[in-house]
Amino acid sequence: MSGAAMVGLGVFRPRRVVGNDEICRVLDSTPEWIVRRTGISTRRFAQADETLAEMAATAGEKALADAGASPAEVDRVIIATMSHVGDDPVDLPSAVAARMGVRAPAVQVSAACSGFAVALRLAADAVTAGGARTALVIGVERMSDLLDPTDRSTAFIFSDGAGAVLVAASRRPQIGPAVMGGQPSLAEAITVRRRPELPDRGPVIRMQGPTVFRWALTELPGVVGQILDGAGLTAGEVDAFIPHQANLRIIDAVAQSTGLGGVVVARDIVEQANTSAASIPLAMERMRSSGQVKRGDLALLLGFGAGLSYAGLLATLP
Ligand code: UT7
Repeated sequence: MSGAAMVGLGVFRPRRVVGNDEICRVLDSTPEWIVRRTGISTRRFAQADETLAEMAATAGEKALADAGASPAEVDRVIIATMSHVGDDPVDLPSAVAARMGVRAPAVQVSAACSGFAVALRLAADAVTAGGARTALVIGVERMSDLLDPTDRSTAFIFSDGAGAVLVAASRRPQIGPAVMGGQPSLAEAITVRRRPELPDRGPVIRMQGPTVFRWALTELPGVVGQILDGAGLTAGEVDAFIPHQANLRIIDAVAQSTGLGGVVVARDIVEQANTSAASIPLAMERMRSSGQVKRGDLALLLGFGAGLSYAGLLATLP
């Protein structure tokens, strides 16, 4: 065994579906504007019992079931999240592992919307190096906890959920090298902080939307090019493009400008909105359950967001 592969996939989508009309009861906007500028029609907001730990553990259990694996076979748990700021346990990864009956070391990665791709590569590294036979990667977010419902840049974009993949050793590497980087000079373009104007709130997300939008369209096509060149592939040889679900206009523009417009492109954002570190596995699951992709298809995964940062790689789908 000299490589790693994704062998199981599971997700958790919170029960409560929230339409644009509900958002616009508080926000100075219209449902039509939200659809036109982002593609988003609905999102999911987690309720009190749908905690980060609960959502992550449920997605993780489904990924294990999908792989036909038991909790005893998990050697690492890597959680990617940026919304672990509320009442959840101090040590979220250990809480998730405990709920799942996993006794292996569990850690947390904080790389915002790039988090899932970063964690996936870390998992593949651990498995390839022989330090772990398997690693469970879980992206989980309760972005609704960070929202100011009156903020015109963020209130309608973000959403809650979890997605998990089990990574296991494979003869042939099926998770490619990652292209990672970012633009630290734009670190203030997305922030999560306490706000003096909202003294009763915990940390709140703020985003300079047009700055992030322009950066994404300028930077990401080159990142896709590097990933493809590194593998010696053309866009047409990839089966699916599964970028972070930030904005449908970004997804479509990057797909068109890189030649990936001709492959199957993830558009989970329409119904699920932007779940940060959970968006890539959630999108993967919708594509698989709707028959758009199948196990073994080659996908280009691309996370990007706060930092500003990006992380992308090629991988065969579970
Ligand atoms: O997941 C992390 C990474 N995040 C992203 O990649 C997000 C990137 N950014 C975006 O998705 C977009 O910038 C937003 C969706 C946040 C905003 O869309 P935009 O097309 O960049 O809007 P804008 O801020 O440039 O504003 C366009 C117009 C302005 O009106 P005028 O000046 O053209 O008359 C705004 O005042 O839309 C107005 N506007 C709104 N109207 C209704 C701004 N926000 C709203 C709103 N509802 N919520």
